[in-house]
Amino acid sequence: MTTFYEEVGGEAFFTELVSHFYALVATNEILRPMYPESDMKGAAKRLLMFMEQYWGGPSTYSEERGHPRLRMRHAGFHIDIAARDAWLSCMNEALSGMEIDQIHRTQLEGYFEMAAHSMVNQES
Ligand code: HEM
Repeated sequence: MTTFYEEVGGEAFFTELVSHFYALVATNEILRPMYPESDMKGAAKRLLMFMEQYWGGPSTYSEERGHPRLRMRHAGFHIDIAARDAWLSCMNEALSGMEIDQIHRTQLEGYFEMAAHSMVNQES
């Protein structure tokens, strides 16, 4: 049985997706100030490890960071609807540049939509 991770191309796929995503974050005026100026590489690595683990790849994220508890880890950031939409628009743009079949694309889009919504912690 293959995993979603393997089906979309494994490490190479997620590395490219996360790298596109952070290139867009770096020029987004809502998101850029929220991320650590001196550790964008570290932030990209954490997201990459999480994504790989979530979709059935290596569990390096949990080995290095423990249980994801993503809502708790985002509690220190001001995430309102505008920040959520900015995050989603960067991720969807990054995803739209990837070569991937429609079934997997739809699954990723649905997951990002749901996960980003669950990270909102401020009304405005
Ligand atoms: C809704 C809008 C979101 C905003 C504004 C946001 C912002 C941030 C920021 C500022 C960080 C700190 C960067 C760092 O690691 O140094 C972070 C970390 C992280 N974010 Fe988000 N995020 C959002 C949604 C999401 C979603 C939907 C996911 C997963 C699908 C996600 C996964 C992660 C992960 C895995 C980390 C690293 C956690 C750790 O181990 O410390 N984020 N996010």
